[in-house]
Amino acid sequence: MLALIYSDRYINRMNTDPTKKLSGKSALVTASSRGIGRAIALRLAADGARVAVNYHRDDRAAQDVVGAITAAGGQAIAVQGDVGVQADVERLFKEAVAAFGSLDILVNNAGLGAHGPIAEIDTALLDRVVDVNVKGTFYALQQAARLLNDGGRIVNISTGYTRSAFPGFGVYTATKAAVEHLGLALSKELGARRITVNSVLPGLVDTDQTAPIRDQFAAVAAMTPLGRVGEPEDIADIVAFLATDDARWVTGQRIAAAGGLA
Ligand SMILES: NC(=O)c1ccc[n+]([C@@H]2O[C@H](COP(=O)([O-])OP(=O)(O)OC[C@H]3O[C@@H](n4cnc5c(N)ncnc54)[C@H](OP(=O)(O)O)[C@@H]3O)[C@@H](O)[C@H]2O)c1
Repeated sequence: MLALIYSDRYINRMNTDPTKKLSGKSALVTASSRGIGRAIALRLAADGARVAVNYHRDDRAAQDVVGAITAAGGQAIAVQGDVGVQADVERLFKEAVAAFGSLDILVNNAGLGAHGPIAEIDTALLDRVVDVNVKGTFYALQQAARLLNDGGRIVNISTGYTRSAFPGFGVYTATKAAVEHLGLALSKELGARRITVNSVLPGLVDTDQTAPIRDQFAAVAAMTPLGRVGEPEDIADIVAFLATDDARWVTGQRIAAAGGLA
């Protein structure tokens, strides 16, 4: 509920903020019907971007995000697709380009968790997490490399776990390390076209994905210099900065967003 109230901050300024830094830009945000992706979609729209809201199964949640954006004077479409399926990712880009004419911003936000010691991880889970987190990101980066306008922006959502090694998160973190490296490699390939590619590394954020471990939030907050766990908007605000011209000289970087938690 808190996340919804926070996001209203973006809705309320959609029509009123005269300094819309993303006016005329169009964005595709994967997995943006809920959680961190939803906040990113709302924030980019608040900054003037037209946004393609990708979701997997829950059409209603995606339509809610689109409805919130359009009701506030912005432009958005919902696009269904499983990021782990190459044909779906290609269709996402096709639909976004068909709706907006071209694309300037890709946020690779879709990502599945996989919790368990390496000795016990089920290989079916391994396959699914690699499909969505690694291959899905790759498919989207490949499309973006081919289709994004010059001067475009790519932001990958990784995890703060890649800065250390947290027991039980080895598989998840390994997929995110691959995401970060794909971003770094692509930043070299696309620099000549002024396209930047960066990764944001969130710490623990209050979303549906972390709802099962809410009982651990107080302990994480106690270890965090800024004294709380993250909200989706803490991440969305950084993504929005990276999407603007203000961040034109930042590429190939990993930006931790974890309230100071190492
Ligand atoms: N939450 C955290 O503490 C945290 C910390 C670090 C990094 N991250 C990363 O941040 C990203 C977002 O996390 P979150 O916590 O916001 O996740 P979340 O709440 O689980 O995200 C839900 C969203 O993902 C969509 N989705 C799920 N599977 C999909 C697929 N195969 N293809 C396309 N969309 C799919 C859902 O669509 P439907 O509802 O339609 O299925 C929904 O829009 C992930 O990459 C995650 O690894 C999260």
